[in-house]
Amino acid sequence: MIIAVDGPTASGKGTIAKALAAHFGLPHLDTGLLYRAVGRQVQLAGGDPDNAQDGLAACTFSDALLDDEILRSEEVGGFASRVSVHPAVRQALYDRQRAFALQAGGAVLDGRDIGTVIAPEAEVKLFVTASVAERARRRWLEMKGRGIAVALADIERDIAARDERDTGRKDAPLMAAPGALVIDTTFLGREQAIEVAIEAVLTVQNGFPGLRIRPFEDSLAGDFHDINAEWIEAMFRLEPTDREVLEHPHEKIIAPGGEILFVEAEGLGIVGTCALQKTGPGAFELTKMGVRETARGMKAGEFLLEAIIARAKAMGATKLYLLTNHICAAAIHLYEKLGFAHDAGIMAEYGARYERCDVAMLYVGR
Ligand code: DC
Repeated sequence: MIIAVDGPTASGKGTIAKALAAHFGLPHLDTGLLYRAVGRQVQLAGGDPDNAQDGLAACTFSDALLDDEILRSEEVGGFASRVSVHPAVRQALYDRQRAFALQAGGAVLDGRDIGTVIAPEAEVKLFVTASVAERARRRWLEMKGRGIAVALADIERDIAARDERDTGRKDAPLMAAPGALVIDTTFLGREQAIEVAIEAVLTVQNGFPGLRIRPFEDSLAGDFHDINAEWIEAMFRLEPTDREVLEHPHEKIIAPGGEILFVEAEGLGIVGTCALQKTGPGAFELTKMGVRETARGMKAGEFLLEAIIARAKAMGATKLYLLTNHICAAAIHLYEKLGFAHDAGIMAEYGARYERCDVAMLYVGR
């Protein structure tokens, strides 16, 4: 299995990649180190990191350089970011990264373009991020720990500049690969972030052949409406609160900080959808979950539910709940299987939201 972990500097991607490699017994490559070695080699040769020729010449660095502690310095990080802009440098480092990704048994790679360029076929793609202020704070603490005194404002400025260069370059810019699970570590502890990542890998390992998760985009709003309207009208009646959300998913779910995911089945297209509606700080209602009749037996509902739970955790959910009706017995069984428990407190607080609600559940984990 190939696991791609991308993200900006100091987001925690290296920590997550190392933890995944240890947990699943896979070899790990920190691809940033290769660019750092090129940056350092340019520096040693007295070259110019903004000159493509100097960058390319430095790609023949010796492997021993990869163990040099100086590669971890901020100065070399800045050089690495500058040499990484040149397509010739990226091309020169491509084969080495690609071969590492394709080794028998799989691998974990972290960087900026693993899920998009180096291994777009990766079974698991994570995009780890955090606010600039939080990343600067972490880097500042780390440097302070190493006895290096620097102003927080200077680090914040450098990180913002590096982000701009990494995301703005023409060749393989830093961005989340389509379908990547975005893990925002701004408010997530180290252990929580690792747990989210491990669960994402387990979901894929559990095996849901032919299925893939797609994030919300406006062109899928029609699927979100039709899939839900179909099952709600078949079993209940569409309430005004349903209509509002189904007709304006971007405005009612995405814009206020929620999420909508879709499950796509090979040969069938979009077969299911599910939403997280933000109802308070850290509180999310799992709602509008439907799977088309055509996809019965494919475990599309379970796949989707696992993905949306992982997404809720990655978004820092502290209260994840749902409201339903006892006649949705198969769905309730699935909710129980994946860690939801019946909860009187949720019923008292939110149960009046739908006429049809007589079951309220809270996510307590497995
Ligand atoms: O992850 P890092 O801070 O060690 O990376 C240093 C620089 O290398 C980063 O600013 C951009 C570049 N890089 C890249 O362009 N592509 C990668 N896959 C990894 C790093």
